Amino acid sequence: MIKETNLPEAFSGLLIDHLGIAVKELNAASEVYALLGFSAVGDDETIDTQGVRVRAFQAGESLLELLEPTRADSPIAKYIDKRGEGLHHVAFRVENLEAEIERLETQGATFISTEIRGGRAGTRVVFLHPKWAKGVLVELVEHAH
Ligand code: CO
Repeated sequence: MIKETNLPEAFSGLLIDHLGIAVKELNAASEVYALLGFSAVGDDETIDTQGVRVRAFQAGESLLELLEPTRADSPIAKYIDKRGEGLHHVAFRVENLEAEIERLETQGATFISTEIRGGRAGTRVVFLHPKWAKGVLVELVEHAH
């Protein structure tokens, strides 16, 4: 399991939780990130609803999720077909996902979907639309409290 980062008491904004990296093959990608000093944490997780197998890597408090497609029609497979392997999303940690969705929607943010999905390690996630977030696919992630 991932060590939880304690939020500074006064911190009320968003922290980077992890970077998601789309890869064709987890084992080949793992060798690269191991050389960069990252260690795999936990077991691989398959998230059927998103057609993805996830392997988490950690160095210090920095977390990466390597994302391998499990089927040809998954969003990750389509991403790799179109753009090749690479940085897929940036995840920001929130304390209360429903409250953050409501706050951002009120401010005009657009989401890929506001339907909350299950992420890795028991987290709950939604994705903001990259057209709204200046070309970045932003994931909001709430860890189990
Ligand atoms: Co993610």
